[in-house]
Amino acid sequence: MAQKNIILIGFMGTGKSTISAVLHKLTNMQIAEMDEIIVHREGMSIPDIFSSKGDSYFRSIETALLKELQMQDNLIISCGGGVALRKENVDVMKTNGIVFLLNASPEVIFERIGSDFNRPILNGRRSLEGITQLMQERHPYYEAAADYIISTDSKSTEQIAQEILLIYKNI
Ligand code: S3P
Repeated sequence: MAQKNIILIGFMGTGKSTISAVLHKLTNMQIAEMDEIIVHREGMSIPDIFSSKGDSYFRSIETALLKELQMQDNLIISCGGGVALRKENVDVMKTNGIVFLLNASPEVIFERIGSDFNRPILNGRRSLEGITQLMQERHPYYEAAADYIISTDSKSTEQIAQEILLIYKNI
């Protein structure tokens, strides 16, 4: 049966990819990991796309990919952290998806991604203060895009995935 896509949004390091993997294990739904698809298609890393083609290029291929994925059903779409910031993308999400926002505290995020150089958005912000500030700036956009907000702090990945599925199966 065709069912809407599960769309995971949220700041970098909130566990979108990890939770996608658990959801896949529990449901056998296929995962579309946006960053991974883009890296594969472009044949270069995210930092290289940002530095050689620019961030507006990256954002435009994100939008095109999201539109393409939303033509399919029964997917787990793991969005890059910037996807939900564009109104156009949020409109596309709503056409065929249930949007789950994963939240985590700045401390947890900093611990997970503070020294990850595969995330160009963090350049110049690689501190707890820098990450906290960016999270605050982005939070209103994430909240506006979300159908459901899932807090992840002090929950197991299994618990988080089950919480999402309970909602998804009852809509
Ligand atoms: C970005 C998040 C990254 C990736 C790119 C930009 C962002 O995805 O798409 O580096 O603007 O928040 P993750 O959220 O998977 O790290």
